[in-house]
Amino acid sequence: MTPIEKSVKSQIAIVTGAARGIGEAIARRLAADGLQVVGFDQAWESRPAHLISALAVDVSDFGAVDQAIGDVEALHGPIGIVVNNAGITRDAMSHKMDPQDFRRVIDVNLVGPFNLCRATLTGMRDRGYGRIVNISSMNALRGQYGQANYAAAKAGLIAMTKSIALETAAKGITANCIAPGFIETDMTRAMRPDIREAEIAKIPSGRIGTVEDVANAVSYLASDAASFMTGQVMSVNGGQHMP
Ligand code: NAI
Repeated sequence: MTPIEKSVKSQIAIVTGAARGIGEAIARRLAADGLQVVGFDQAWESRPAHLISALAVDVSDFGAVDQAIGDVEALHGPIGIVVNNAGITRDAMSHKMDPQDFRRVIDVNLVGPFNLCRATLTGMRDRGYGRIVNISSMNALRGQYGQANYAAAKAGLIAMTKSIALETAAKGITANCIAPGFIETDMTRAMRPDIREAEIAKIPSGRIGTVEDVANAVSYLASDAASFMTGQVMSVNGGQHMP
């Protein structure tokens, strides 16, 4: 298979949680890179112009994910790139956390990415090409008050990614994580203002991260230029944490 054939076969990218925030910026950037991007999210008001398709899919529901992947491939062709970005927080100190909030965060942030990988990896293996980019978190690498559920899910995502990287390295597929630090989105705008300001003050770069900072890293990992990079965690955090 020539490189040209490979890139023709990698034109369809799925981005989960693409309706807003980091996911929206990733989808926009991959579309600008020349990919045909399909967005999955819980609900859409309308289809953004940079997406070829916007599907309402709960990533934690394997049946819904599998069906949607089948529909996308039937309509648009084989999927070469999957960006698992959809994520939620349900913060509380561990001794007060509702067990259902622990489980829901695992279901969306860890089982969700597994579901997408499970539904797409066979095709990628058969075609000898694939890019998996999973959005983890700086807090997976260091822990965080009130985020036992979130940090566990995001750390699990890193271990899952390394395992998938090993399983697929000889098949032309790469699987990597990005660990964003503190990024300006609805998720961080919802924080208590004093905690938010204290977090920003800890960032050596002297500013909060932008959604484009993360999208730039995804663009690289999703490209043919990153073909020798697999099983890695790329931190995008302004120097706040250096594992
Ligand atoms: P956000 O809350 O602004 O957007 C998340 C998107 O995911 C939303 O559009 C939401 O509807 C979608 N989503 C949630 N549950 C879903 C489900 N079950 N199925 C399908 N879609 C679902 O969040 P943000 O800040 O853009 O975060 C994106 C990713 O980056 C998340 O995985 C988050 O954990 C991660 N992250 C964010 C950081 C930040 O500072 N904002 C830092 C580190 C990681």
